[in-house]
Formats: sequence, structure tokens, C-alpha cells
Amino acid sequence: MIVLESVKKVFNQGRPNELVAVADASLSIDASKVTVLKGPSGSGKTTLLSIIGCMTRPTAGRIHLGDREITSLPERFLTAVRGETFGFIFQQFNLIRGITALENVMIPAYPKGERYGILKGRAMGLLAMFNLADKSASKAEWLSGGEAQRVAIARALINNPSILIADEPTAHLDTKLSGEFMEIMAGLHRQGRTIIIASHDPVVYESSLINRTVEMRDGRIVQ
Ligand SMILES: Nc1ncnc2c1ncn2[C@@H]1O[C@H](COP(=O)(O)OP(=O)(O)O)[C@@H](O)[C@H]1O
Ligand SMILES: [Mg+2]
Repeated sequence: MIVLESVKKVFNQGRPNELVAVADASLSIDASKVTVLKGPSGSGKTTLLSIIGCMTRPTAGRIHLGDREITSLPERFLTAVRGETFGFIFQQFNLIRGITALENVMIPAYPKGERYGILKGRAMGLLAMFNLADKSASKAEWLSGGEAQRVAIARALINNPSILIADEPTAHLDTKLSGEFMEIMAGLHRQGRTIIIASHDPVVYESSLINRTVEMRDGRIVQ
């Protein structure tokens, strides 16, 4: 379970361009459930996701991850929690061009310092699971949209995270590929993973897979 208590994020605090991206968000996200953050562009979804995923620190408020209060953790502990707990699927997938699908999948595991052979085996296993074994040596920019999407999911899974965070994952996919994305999420949900998706795509938020929808407006959660 993830609990947010009065989380606030202010950008450029005290400057003329100060902006309150997340105003006062209190929320409990159940483990092993699929939660959607829904709301118009600019409503604070990405900011809230990056706070939940320990990528951004809130300006105020607290975050509990299980029985741990993570807001006050020093940076290196936060980095460790992030690496072992979360997998991220970014908007536009953010695959690194110029390197192969296999290398893209392996990258989030490098900080753990595992043996290359073991890591490579696991990455190949994930690629095979998503029918991408024959694409392992393809450069990221050679992949089709659907392939890039599946490589991004494989990359998110490399550290076997209990929580998957996806930011507008279907924004650049057609309806068929968006449906396939949700089917893959259904499989990961059946494995017991917690899934949090920010989206304003009906293919996502109207999916039967969704256990809970949280609506955001102007940095606030509207229930
Ligand atoms: N790094 C940043 N610096 C300044 N403003 C930002 C930054 N990131 C996001 N914002 C602003 O915060 C608000 C919320 O953005 P975001 O969380 O990306 O919303 P959403 O994902 O719902 O579109 C927007 O007004 C956006 O311009
Ligand atoms: Mg966003």
C-alpha cells in the first residue's frame, strides 16, 4: 500500500513563475490493484507519478510505502527504494536511440552491479516473453511502435518491481496496440503487481482491468 498525506509540489517556489503542480494530494493506493490517474493535460498526473515513484521529492507532505516513511530518506536510500520497488513505463517510451533493444532492457539493472551474463539472460528472457527475441540486437530506432512499447515494458520489469508506473502509455499507440498494452498489464496484474497508470485515454480508463480511478484537476484530487 502506498499512502500519500497532503503531498504538495511547487515548482520555482518563491519566484515569479512559481507553479503549484500538485496542491494537496492525500491518497491511498492499494497493493496488487490497478489504479488510473485521470485528468486533463497539466492537471499534475506526471508530477504525482514521479513523486510516488521516488523520482521527485514533494515540497511538502509525506509518502509511506508499505510500513516505510520514504519522504525523509536520504538520497542514496531513496535511489535504492526506487530501484528495487518501481518499474517505469514513460510517455513516448523513452528508449535510448543508438543502442539495442537488449541494452535498453538491461540499463535499469546496471546500478545493482550484477554479473553481465546473468543480467543478459534475464533481459533475453523478458524479450522472449514479449515475442521480441529476434529483435534483441535491433537498435531502438528500428523498432515499430508496438515493439518499442513492449521493449519499454520489458525494461520496466528487469528489476522485478512490485509496482509498475506507466505515464500516458498509450498516447502514441493506435487502438489495437493500446488494447494489447492493456492485455499485457492484465497479465502483470495477475502476477500480483501493483499498477498505476496516468492516462486520459478511454481505452485505458474504461478498461475492465481498472480497479480504481482517481481524478485530478488543477493539481488536486477530485473524488
Ligand atoms: N519541472 C517543472 N518545472 C516547472 N513546471 C512544471 C515542471 N513539471 C511540470 N510543471 C508544470 O506542472 C503542471 C502539472 O504538470 P504535469 O504533472 O506534467 O501534468 P500532467 O501530467 O497531468 O499533464 C503543469 O502546469 C506543468 O507545466
Ligand atoms: Mg503528464
